[in-house]
Amino acid sequence: MNTYYIETYGCQMNVYDSEIISAILQQEGLEEVDTPHKADLVLLNTCSVRDLAEQKVHTRLGQLHMIQEESNPSMKMGIVGCMAQNLKKDILRKKPYVSFILGPDSYRHLPELISSDGNRKRIIETRLSSFELYDGLFPARHDGINAWISIMRGCDKFCSYCIVPYTRGRERSRKPDSILEEAKRAVDKGFSEITLLGQNVNSYRSSSGGFPDLLEKMAGIDRLLRIRYTSPHPQDVNDDLIRVHRDYKHIICNHIHLPLQSGSNAVLEAMNRTYTREHYLNLVEKIRKAVPDMAITTDMIAGFPEETEKDFEETLDIMERVRYDAAFMFKYSSRPGTKAALLTETLSEDEKSNRLNRMIRLQYKHTLEKNRELIGQEVEILVEKESKKTSKEMMGRTSTNKIVVFPAMNYKPRDLIHRTITDAQGVTLFSSR
Ligand code: 5AD
Ligand code: SF4
Repeated sequence: MNTYYIETYGCQMNVYDSEIISAILQQEGLEEVDTPHKADLVLLNTCSVRDLAEQKVHTRLGQLHMIQEESNPSMKMGIVGCMAQNLKKDILRKKPYVSFILGPDSYRHLPELISSDGNRKRIIETRLSSFELYDGLFPARHDGINAWISIMRGCDKFCSYCIVPYTRGRERSRKPDSILEEAKRAVDKGFSEITLLGQNVNSYRSSSGGFPDLLEKMAGIDRLLRIRYTSPHPQDVNDDLIRVHRDYKHIICNHIHLPLQSGSNAVLEAMNRTYTREHYLNLVEKIRKAVPDMAITTDMIAGFPEETEKDFEETLDIMERVRYDAAFMFKYSSRPGTKAALLTETLSEDEKSNRLNRMIRLQYKHTLEKNRELIGQEVEILVEKESKKTSKEMMGRTSTNKIVVFPAMNYKPRDLIHRTITDAQGVTLFSSR
């Protein structure tokens, strides 16, 4: 086997895992190619967070099977990631063209699979581990500005709608030294920004402290320009984390992602989110008091089982009070095996879509209003690359994670520049001065 091709679905944790997988495969002498037609090994790194994500993988599997039959008969196919557990039975029975299935904690088995002679039985390894952190493996990253670093894996929160605690297992944190070493290596390779990753990033624990302590250590890394992290849980946002944001503003980005999910106490309770709307609003107030220009973004779910119109309006009400800079919004999707899947769905798909659309419209308005407030203000931008439209323009990001497009001048990727915002359209800021 000489070449591999990998396609990634779902969240940033999967993107990171694909980089770990690449590192393992490259150590075995395989080279990455950019199309399945040319690959000896094709991997799909899958997501099961919503039904739509799963459907996409099923469609893609069908297409890849056709490529295998028509133009690349010796290609081996493997399924990895969060769908491994669920796909196990289905694949054994109906998809003989898939050679192996590996869950998120089983990537160290890849070398054995590659060296096997092809006559071996199909391999399925989806057991979850209480300690696998892929320590000592340095991910094979594609060039860019930002390096993702996973600092903890798994989730113990068990929100009633979420499949992640089942697909990714229990929480475990890496040691700070190993994280710092990975970060320094990334900086040496030319990355200017690091995003710390975890399913519940701020429930990070080590013998020398919690998440705020780790951020403080990271802030001391030489030549690193920016630090981001995702995704925190509001329950674990403490005063220390807010203080670190305030004290290290020059390097820790002015942005906090604070997944709300719902603005109704009844729904929050049914979701097992462990906070109330009052607690959440109080937290937002505390954050804004300490760091007034902090961008706040969120995740929200529309149409949870038994969500009434009044419950939904409470979510819109929190949106009005907080005025998020941006949000990821989803229609509730029942995940077999979760607690919420046992609840009777009281809303039709149309009603759920309708609520989702109302939410999206309101958020779009807020995003645009907040971005327009920046017109006339000077912002710091980390230059990333040429803009999609023309080589005469470049794009970069503000510390608050907003995209800015500006004249290319003599700017280079990784420059930290100051420019004045002159326009805002859609989700993009423009700077012509
Ligand atoms: N249905 C809809 N959205 C979900 N999310 C997680 N599980 C579900 C589900 N079953 C959303 C949450 C979470 C984000 C990553 O995905 O908003 O924060
Ligand atoms: Fe998808 Fe969640 Fe797994 Fe990420 S952790 S790949 S979002 S199911």
